[in-house]
Order: sequence, then structure tokens, then C-alpha cells
Amino acid sequence: MAKQKTAFVCNECGADYAKWQGQCSECHAWNTIVEVRLGAASKKSTSFKGYSGGASSTLAKLNEIDLAELPRFSSGMEEFDRVLGGGFVPGSVVLIGGHPGAGKSTVLLQTMCQLAETYEALYVTGEESLQQVAMRAQRLALPMGNLSMLSATAVEEIVLQAEQIKPTIIVVDSIQVMHVADVTSAPGSVSQVRESAASLTRYAKESGGVLILVGHVTKDGSLAGPKVLEHIIDCSIMLEGSHDSRFRTLRGHKNRFGPVNELGVFAMTEQGLKEVSNPSAIFLQRADEVASGSVVLVVWEGTRPLLLEVQALVDSSSLGNPRRVAVGLEQNRLSMLLAVLHRHGGVMIGDQDVFVNAVGGVKIVETSADLAVLLALVSSFRDRPLPRELVVFGEVGLAGEIRPVPSGPERLREAAKHGFRRAIVPVGNAPREQLDGLEVVTVKKLAEALEAIY
Ligand code: TYD
Ligand code: MG
Repeated sequence: MAKQKTAFVCNECGADYAKWQGQCSECHAWNTIVEVRLGAASKKSTSFKGYSGGASSTLAKLNEIDLAELPRFSSGMEEFDRVLGGGFVPGSVVLIGGHPGAGKSTVLLQTMCQLAETYEALYVTGEESLQQVAMRAQRLALPMGNLSMLSATAVEEIVLQAEQIKPTIIVVDSIQVMHVADVTSAPGSVSQVRESAASLTRYAKESGGVLILVGHVTKDGSLAGPKVLEHIIDCSIMLEGSHDSRFRTLRGHKNRFGPVNELGVFAMTEQGLKEVSNPSAIFLQRADEVASGSVVLVVWEGTRPLLLEVQALVDSSSLGNPRRVAVGLEQNRLSMLLAVLHRHGGVMIGDQDVFVNAVGGVKIVETSADLAVLLALVSSFRDRPLPRELVVFGEVGLAGEIRPVPSGPERLREAAKHGFRRAIVPVGNAPREQLDGLEVVTVKKLAEALEAIY
């Protein structure tokens, strides 16, 4: 009898060990290491098939490979396509992550019902019953005639059914409830997630269909069993958005076929997720009278500019250690900006509580927001509102210098398009030609910017 191979795998981070131990040396979690049987799983693997005949693998020069094999197809939603890098690539595996209730199932059901009109499509639901999904589709008035539905959690069953109807696109909702018989641990554990994803991926690559896996994120915002999936999949996308906001953003984190950091914007409505094709207009719905501490900035998202509002509140603190809170921005960046403001702007807010918020539940990951954050802080501290038609962008250096940011002309054009009249930007981003109705003030130092606002 062949010897049964086993491995010890941490359920938290997926690290492998030769022996059992109480604490994982990688992630330092206790009691998370479990024994996993490997023998059966690898015996079934189809990857050894080619060795007997050597016919299934082909050797070719890079420039001889037929590129026509990869015609992308559209998801039917422009915002979704944008994040995918121009649509689905046949044979690729896409992971869509997000918090429970973000709208993953909703957006995929909408997409799949539309795609089923043209392609063979299969929706596997492991979490909701078929009735629940059907009720939702009916309520959203989606075309229901052509989408194949399967309620299953066993990967073997899914592959068996898929082999019969040969779908062009499969959704598996969600990977955390899937299991393969060869692995003994519970669904949702790292080894189950890894083996299930690997088996489904193998099927997708062989059949040339698109596989979409749904994954839940854990409390700290990472995908459950994340590291084990990252290298299997071709494209990882997160659906983000806070519960109190209608807006959802779809952001690429890894993409083998296109750029990452593209942003797709959706709004959650009674009719499901709707695309927002002009996000700037939505994020900029401001009251007629602008309060102090509010500034509009232009961030660069993938291939387009986006106008956002950032708000700051500076208030005298009753604590010995005043609070510094950043929502939608990086905390460390805020601390750095406060230090620069003190040292190079001469503004003393060491004894004040400071809160900064990016409006609309968006996450700003760009340094071009620096100058706008600083001006918002000063505006709130002095309790003097800034003009409504002012827009600001620029990176702030530790010496108090204002540094240029990429794509300056496009940012300015977007601001002009939305009716802004005045812009404060780094000298390096000075426009070559005059922009219609937009007065551009260029600044070199923080002190100049502080002078320019009042
Ligand atoms: P869902 O797609 O089930 O989330 P996930 O699969 O990511 O866990 O979305 C559920 C949420 O979306 C729920 O909180 C209600 C909201 N929602 C709407 O506001 N309108 C709708 O038409 C639908 C279908 C859901
Ligand atoms: Mg769901």
C-alpha cells in the first residue's frame, strides 16, 4: 500500500510545517495548525497526464504564440470591464472579495443574467438557496430565462455538472463554503479553500471558461485564506464601501491581464447595483454653503481623475494626548502632515483633536491629497470656510515643499469641466495653456499655499 502523505498547515496563514506545533511561527497564532492528507489529492491531479505521451504540452517561441486566442468579452457593465482591464479573458480566474453585504452576490447575479443571454453561464450558490437567488433576480427584474443555477458545495459535483453544460463563465459563491472530499478539514479552512480553488481553477483552465470566485474578507480586511489564493488566481478585485454609504467601489488588486488600481464606481439602489459613470458629480454633492474645513481635491484613479471632498475638524482637546483620526486616509500620513504644518506653516495645533474624513466612504491612496488635507485643517482651525469653487492638489514634502503629481493637466481639465474657478497646484504642475474659466495658482512652499487661500 502506498504511504499516505500528510502535511501540517496553519489555518490562519497557510504556512506549511513538517511536524505539528502549538504556535505557527509565521503568523504567531496558537492552535491553528492541522494535519492535512495530501496523497489522494495529488494522485488525482491531471497535471501528470502529459508525461506519458508528452503531447499535451507545446514548446514555442514567444513571438510564435497565437495571440488571437484571447478575445476578451464584456461583462456588460462598463465599470466592471474597466477594473478587469477591458473585459473577461477566457480561461482566467477572477476573485471578487468584500465584506458580507457589500453586494458581491448582487452584482454577479446581475452580470450573469445579462451574460446568459449570449453565453452559456452557470451560477453556483453555496450560501443562499436557489429560491432566495431566484426571488432576488425576479425583484431586480433580471432576464431569468437562460442562466443555469446550481446549489452545491462539493467541488466534485460542480465540476461534474459543469462538464455537462460546458459554461463559458462560472460563478462560485463563495469559495469559503466549498469543499473537496480528499481534504479532511472543515470548509473555510485554508487547506479546503486552497484545494477547492485549485480544483476549480484546473477545470477552468482546461475548459477555457472564465471562473469567478467570491471570497469574504476577515475583520482586518484581508481575504480569508488570502495568501493561498493569491498565486492561483489571475485577477483579484475588491468590492468596497461602508455600510452607511450607498456607494460601492470595485478596485483591482492584482491583474495578470491589465492595469491594477482602476476604480469602478457603483451605487446600491433598490434595483441592485447601478453603475456610476460620472463619479465626480456624485461625490461632489455639496451644500450651497460650504462649511469650514471642507476642500475639494482631484485624485487620479487608474486612468481617470476623480473629484472628491475631504473634510477636517480641528477642535480643542480635553485629553492629555489629543486624538488624530483619519478616515479614508492613511493615519501615518496625517501625523506627518501635522508635523509639517507645525514646522513649516507655523500653525500650532498640538493641543487640538484632529479628525479628517474622505467624503463618500472612498479610500484615498494617493499623495496628491496632502495639500488639500492641510488646507482643510487650517480652514477648520481658523474656522474660515474656503471658497466653494476652489480645487486643490499636490504632494507635501517634509521640508514643506509642494511637489508635483502625475497627470496634472487631466486633473485640471476635470476640475474646469465641473465648474471650478480657482485651483491651487504645485509649480511643477503649472498648465502650459490657459484653461477655460479656471484660474490656476501655483505654489512652491506650504507658506505660499496658506497665503493663497485667504
Ligand atoms: P449581497 O449581494 O447579498 O452581499 P454579499 O454577497 O456581498 O454578501 O448584498 C446584500 C446587501 O445589498 C444587503 O445589505 C441589501 C443590499 N441590497 C440593496 O440595497 N438593494 C438590492 O436591490 C439588493 C439586491 C441588495
Ligand atoms: Mg453573498
